[in-house]
Amino acid sequence: MNSREFEFTEKDFDRVRALIYQRAGISLNQSKQEMVYSRLAKRLRANRLTSFSDYIALLEAGSSAEWEAFINSLTTNLTFFFREEHHFPALAEHVRSKKSHISLWCAACSTGEEAYSMAMTMADLFDTLRPPVTILASDVDTGVLEKAKDGLYNASQLEKVPTDKLKKYFVELPGGMAKIKPEIREMVSFEKINLLDDRWPAKGPYDAIFCRNVMIYFDKDTQAKILRKFSPLLKKDGLLFAGHSESFHHVPDIFRLRGKTVYELAK
Ligand SMILES: C[S@@+](CC[C@H](N)C(=O)[O-])C[C@H]1O[C@@H](n2cnc3c(N)ncnc32)[C@H](O)[C@@H]1O
Repeated sequence: MNSREFEFTEKDFDRVRALIYQRAGISLNQSKQEMVYSRLAKRLRANRLTSFSDYIALLEAGSSAEWEAFINSLTTNLTFFFREEHHFPALAEHVRSKKSHISLWCAACSTGEEAYSMAMTMADLFDTLRPPVTILASDVDTGVLEKAKDGLYNASQLEKVPTDKLKKYFVELPGGMAKIKPEIREMVSFEKINLLDDRWPAKGPYDAIFCRNVMIYFDKDTQAKILRKFSPLLKKDGLLFAGHSESFHHVPDIFRLRGKTVYELAK
């Protein structure tokens, strides 16, 4: 017996998979069928539609607002402060002796925890709330970018923030909430960038690019295309930080491993 509110056929699922792959590069395998159903069922209700085929027809008719909602619904945004902790001292070490302004890019920033962890690392390194650092933080999902810009986090999101940093870089609010201090927020500018797009507003050259836990959603060809575009945006000694389960051995002409999930330019 099918207890679903909306009919969701194999054909509908395949069409959704093709559309999210074309628009955001995200490869969804067969096991994601339930996830896709429950996330998009909300869009059907919001649009007062009764079938997935009508929803797909609405998208294909070109509504840009719905395309945005479609992409936002299908991204996975798990993140937390100081995730893959070892990268932050490695970043500090890398820029420590730099004499010029430091430019960083956080290329799939989700709700902001990663970019603000980079910013706090820089504030610690230079021992000031206003270090000579700018950070571009981007994501394809406009919903998470709005949250990131706010810089407001609840108690469970703050669990991974060391107490000294909570005191130094946040304004603590009632109910266990805390907001990133304005000086730290000002170091970071948030922008929508789809890594799949041919043109990015990211200018570089960057001392480091964090592109963590997003390549896992892309196939190897898409990864290679993106990695090829990262390379001219890095300074000659620039570093690329990857997620714990990501490896870029398939593009040895562009990047070579330098440390634990940290890459440098091959030439
Ligand atoms: C699992 S989160 C990882 C967040 C953070 N980098 C971290 O490691 O904690 C993956 C993020 O990649 C974003 N994303 C997915 N496809 C993207 C694309 N084509 N371009 C830019 N960002 C994308 C998602 O919206 C999501 O916020």
